[in-house]
Amino acid sequence: MAAKRLVVLVSGSGTNLQALLDAVAASGAEAYGAEIVAVGADRSGIAGLERAERAGLPTFVCRVKDHPTREAWDRALADATAAYEPDLVVSAGFMKIVGKEFLARFGGRFINTHPALLPSFPGAHGVRDALAYGAKVTGCTVHFVDDGVDTGPIIAQGVVEVRDEDYADEGAALHERIKEVERTLLVYVVGRLARDGFSIEGRKVVIP
Ligand code: GAR
Repeated sequence: MAAKRLVVLVSGSGTNLQALLDAVAASGAEAYGAEIVAVGADRSGIAGLERAERAGLPTFVCRVKDHPTREAWDRALADATAAYEPDLVVSAGFMKIVGKEFLARFGGRFINTHPALLPSFPGAHGVRDALAYGAKVTGCTVHFVDDGVDTGPIIAQGVVEVRDEDYADEGAALHERIKEVERTLLVYVVGRLARDGFSIEGRKVVIP
């Protein structure tokens, strides 16, 4: 079966993107089930885009401030993504909430990875918020994106223990441990979805 087409969206260092790139390179797109066809970002000058360029992939940047309204930005992001005809879109550290138009076109096949065990600690500061709450375990969640903030159907989760020393650096080391688990989980989940297909039954994601 032909490899599924992935567009990956990033805002930062792009280590999750790199894990996907490495997985495709290691197995070959056909065996992995997917190939990355383009990488998009909401800002320029980030390591995530450099990783894409090093891999020889097309990139696009869609900045909110270059558009008159948030809706216009959302439409431009959807158009730029659609130009690569993706089967799946992956938000890998993409720090923007997409709007109605993007979801109308990619809902049900738009995946996000979040650095906490949802539904606990949604939003932009999942690691910091889990620490501040005093959680003893946290982790990461790979989920489909719906119109809420980190509220969509959960595909898979990974658990990471919080250590006493994590309070000393405001969660920097904890986030690194989460990201190790997250990269492996994301590579596994995207491969399974691409190879085996899936259905979303209410809140339950079923992968045969
Ligand atoms: C990841 O931990 C991801 O879960 C998080 O940003 C990091 C990106 O790392 N995303 C969010 O917090 C979204 N709310 P990376 O750029 O090295 O892949």
